[in-house]
Formats: sequence, C-alpha cells, structure tokens
Amino acid sequence: MSINYNYSIELARSQDFPNLRDTVYVDHVGATLYSRSQMEAVHKDLMSNLYGNPHSHNASSKLSTDTVDQVRARILQMFNTNHKEYSLIFTSGCTASLQIIANCFRFGTGNHTCLLLNNVTQIAECLFLIFVILRILRKEKKNYLFLDAQQGVFCYLDDNHTSVQGMREAVADRTSGIFCLDEQELVQAICGAESSSPVAESSVDPESINGEATLPPTVPQSLVAFPAQSNFSGRKYPLEWVLRCKQSGLSVPSRKSSESEKWFVLLDTAAYVSTSPLDLSRVQPDFATVSFYKMFGYPTGIGALLVHKRAWSSLDKQYFGGGTVAASTSKGRFHAFWKSLHDRFEDGTVPFLNIISLKHGMDAMQKLAGNMQVVCDHVFAVARYFYQHLSKLQHGNGQPLAEIYGGVNFETSCSQGGVVTFNILRSDGAYIGYSEVDKFANLHDVHLRTGCFCNIGACQRFLSLSDKVIKENFDAGHVCGDNMDLIAGRPTGAVRISFGYMSTIDDARVCLRFIADSFLEKPVTIPAFPNPDCPSNDSGPKVRKLTDIHLYPLKSCGAFKVSEWEMGSKGLLYDREWVLVTDAGVTIGQKKIPQICMLRPHIDLESRRFTLNFPGKSDFL
Ligand SMILES: Cc1ncc(COP(=O)(O)O)c(C=O)c1O
Repeated sequence: MSINYNYSIELARSQDFPNLRDTVYVDHVGATLYSRSQMEAVHKDLMSNLYGNPHSHNASSKLSTDTVDQVRARILQMFNTNHKEYSLIFTSGCTASLQIIANCFRFGTGNHTCLLLNNVTQIAECLFLIFVILRILRKEKKNYLFLDAQQGVFCYLDDNHTSVQGMREAVADRTSGIFCLDEQELVQAICGAESSSPVAESSVDPESINGEATLPPTVPQSLVAFPAQSNFSGRKYPLEWVLRCKQSGLSVPSRKSSESEKWFVLLDTAAYVSTSPLDLSRVQPDFATVSFYKMFGYPTGIGALLVHKRAWSSLDKQYFGGGTVAASTSKGRFHAFWKSLHDRFEDGTVPFLNIISLKHGMDAMQKLAGNMQVVCDHVFAVARYFYQHLSKLQHGNGQPLAEIYGGVNFETSCSQGGVVTFNILRSDGAYIGYSEVDKFANLHDVHLRTGCFCNIGACQRFLSLSDKVIKENFDAGHVCGDNMDLIAGRPTGAVRISFGYMSTIDDARVCLRFIADSFLEKPVTIPAFPNPDCPSNDSGPKVRKLTDIHLYPLKSCGAFKVSEWEMGSKGLLYDREWVLVTDAGVTIGQKKIPQICMLRPHIDLESRRFTLNFPGKSDFL
C-alpha cells in the first residue's frame, strides 16, 4: 500500500501557520485551522471591495449577491454537483441544517389530531358527527382519499452526533416511530428490506420543482440518518448505504412498513468533508449537512444544507423572515415564498461576508494541500503512523498502554479518517482518566479533545455504558464536558486525536512522545516515519514567484489564466471590461443565471479576438 504523505506541507507550514510554531494542534474534527495566506486574502478582499446588504439594489449590494452566488456554485462544484441536482442552503452550521430537516421534513399526511373530550356527551357528539360525515360521503359515491395519519419513521445510527440524535425530539409528534440502530442492526435493516419487495425509486414530483409547497404526501415518508464519518472514532461508513436505503428502505424489526413508503437519506458529512472528497454525482443523499469551519478553519458560524432535487418537496416551511418571501401582507396571513429552495430557506440576511470569505478558504486549502484526495491520503498517512505506534506502546510487563476504540485497522483511507480515540491504561490494566491525559497534553503544548465529543451513542457503545449507567453517572453529578473522567474505575469518556490537512508526522511524533514520556515507566524510542523523498528542511531566503495571472474580461464569468499580459491605462488590459446585458440593457449576474460562472473566456491578443466557451459546447461566441 502506498502511503502518500505530502512532504510539501512541511515546508509551507511554518510560513502559513505561524500560530503552530510551538504548539501541536490535534483537534481538527473539533475545528480545523485557518492559514496566514487565507486571512491575508480575506483582509485584502474586504478592504478592496465594497460589499453591501444583498437585499438592497445598489452596486455594492449587487457585488455581494453575485459573489455569494459564485461561492454557492463553487461549493457545489467542490462536491462535484450543480444547482440542477442539489440546492445549497446556507445555514449557521451543521446543527442548524439538521434543525431545518427536523422541523420541516414531511413524514406523511399531517399531524395526529388530538381531541380533548371532557365528558360522555362530548364523546357521543363527536362519534355522531363522524357517523354523519361517513354517510354523506357514501351517498355521494365519490372516491374520497382519506388523509389518515400515515406517517413514516425516523431511524438513526447510534454513532451520530447529538445534533442528529436531538432531531428525534423535534420529529416525535410527526412520526409513527423512532429507531436508534447500531451498525449491525442498520445493516440487517437494509438487507432485510432488500430481500423483500423493493420500494419504487420515487421520481421528482413535477409539481414541486424548485421545492414549491405541494399538498401533503399521500404516502408515508421515512428518514434515515447516519454520518459519513464518525466524529468519535473516525470510522467512515459505507457510502453505498445511501443508494441501498433510498432504493429499498429499511426493514425495522417489529414494524410493518407500507409498500408505498418513500425513504429519504440524511448524510451528516460534518466530520467527513474536511479531509475526504465527497462526490455528490455518485453518492446522492437526499440531505447532506456541513460546517465550513471544520473544512477551512475560518469563518465560523457558516454551514450548509444540501438538498437533492428528489427531496425538494419533502420540506415544508412555515416560518418566513427577511428575504424568504416574494410577497406578504401584515394582517391577512398572506405570504408567498420564493420558488428556489435556498431563497425560501435562507431567512434574514445571509452572513454574506462569511460566505464571501469561504472562497479564500477553498483557495488556501487547494494551494497548500492540493485536491481533496491528496488531503485524504496525507491525513490518513499521519493518523496511520500515530495509530500504529500507539498500538505498539507497552508497559514493561507487556500490558498495552492504550485501549483504542472503533475497531479501526488503518488498512485504507476509504474506511478510516484521520482520527484515533483511546484511553490510557496503567501497567495493571486500570484506566487513567482522560482529564489526567489532558493535563499532561497541556504541559507539552498538545491541544487535543477529551470526553464523549457530543457522540453519546459511540461513547456508550465503545465504553460499554448502558442507559442505566449513564443515568446513574448523571445522578452522581457527572455532566457533559466536566472532568469526572472515571466513575467506579470506569471511564466516562476518552481521548481523541484528530489530524487536519496541515498536520505533519512531527505532530504525530510529539503526541506519541508525550504519551510515552508521561505514562510509561521507561523511555522508549519512537521509530521515524520512512521518508525517502523528504526534501531538505534547510530554508534559505524565500524567493516569491508570480505563477499565474487571472483575468475576468466578462464580469461574473470564469477566469482567464495567463502567464504574462499587457497593461492598459486602467490596469490589466481587458480585465472586467465587459458585462452581459439583456435586450433591455439590464445587467445579467449569477443571481439571475448561476451558470454564467461556467463561461470560460479566452482572448487572443494578436488577432484581438475574444471567445467564450461553455463546458460541453464548442466555441459559441
Ligand atoms: C459528525 C458531526 N456532526 C455534527 C456536528 C455539529 O456541527 P456544528 O457544531 O458545527 O453545528 C459535528 C461537530 O463536531 C460533527 O462532528
């Protein structure tokens, strides 16, 4: 197996991450780090451009609107999809995205109606009314469709973040059941459904293109949620489950499912996408949730909910605020939502400066680390080195130093991310509490994470904590985030080390060193990482080289890359010279036609010829 450790990261790291000079940061699943060049680019962008509130109509507002739409298109492109397949709703983070689904997903035909009947007379009156209605319907001999409470279920894997777990409380009144399954039960439920008659793959409701509100679904709609990567152990779950769940649904024990039931899949990609490529053209969950600070470190408070077109009509929105309605009245309870899904779900003013800053995060990561597959291989190589040596560390009597969780083996980056979670053991096998490990880590300037990482399901599974024990621990005063790390000798949480795109083997070595020095009786040697291609670390004076020039001859369209170019009186010749307009002379930006960012310009200076290309089309202008 080739281990693709990216040595160039080591050279760039000292320049681009000065805040890592004397520190080892290994809490990248918590939040990754921003680079110097990224922050400089953000600063330069915000200082040299005037960005106004996108809801206004002045030039600065238009610039914000166009740039936000450009970033939206670029994020979709990063996940190998486009606005025709997925709608991207900006949210304040993964949790907010999950809340939207919890509050708006339509499990079926309306809510259970609860009649409060106080006495026998009221009950009799109610029964009489139902009898009369049924008689009338029979007399008219019409085909009435009874919208009886046919509701789907909500299933989730136990190894989910609490922000998925918490959805159960918001959906409880609208579902006919809630099921928390472990991995084996989920696999059985998928296989069980596949061996019975398959659920017809539901097509997009033509009435609901753009997510316009439609009548409640006439069949139960069920939802299954699992993470693409566990934030506890770094285990990557098979993405083929997405298609299998969508095609056949789940067969949950003790539940009779309806043949017409539709199944929707929610993939929580928060821990996965920061170090693994997500290809939404291949894996097509109905919903995917993201927090961008986990990918780029900055800005915080911005995430996304990606909704596949198949699921656009499965979300039912009630609240409106700010720019989400095309019209409304103040008294008469009239309002009309915008047609496009993101417009109707992005209440208030979107955090436009944060969204604009995202493009510098994407640029910085690409420039420093390359594409996501390179990042994935690099992070895997660092974590694998750490895992292999941690699992070999032993006390003098042969007792292993660490108990590592998650059934990980680091054979391939397809099934394991850059995370290692463990507890430290004494030579007699007793646990050392995670708070003690945290204190030693702080002494060595190692920043790691301890506890249950808001994933109580995984914690319960790997630490064998039953519901009863969790409640007993709570009664004994233990709460999330405190430092009651051992109760009756058993750990209440663990230690998590997680690597990011700028992590190096040296980070892993420092972590191994501090663990061995702090908890083993005798000093040990930590073997070096094989580095046959390692370039010299000797850094002389840095020579800056201009590698590319990007021109934007047509506003809002793609860039034209050159290595040299003529200067005109206003700067680079033909840069931002043209703009698309309608017949009426109104400018066309990406807000109106997002695809224009795909237009690729080309200028031949000799023949003074300007050509525009569009992917898949030969020169058309
Ligand atoms: C797998 C997973 N899902 C959801 C979340 C919640 O993300 P946020 O707190 O950014 O909303 C996290 C955060 O760590 C996570 O790791």
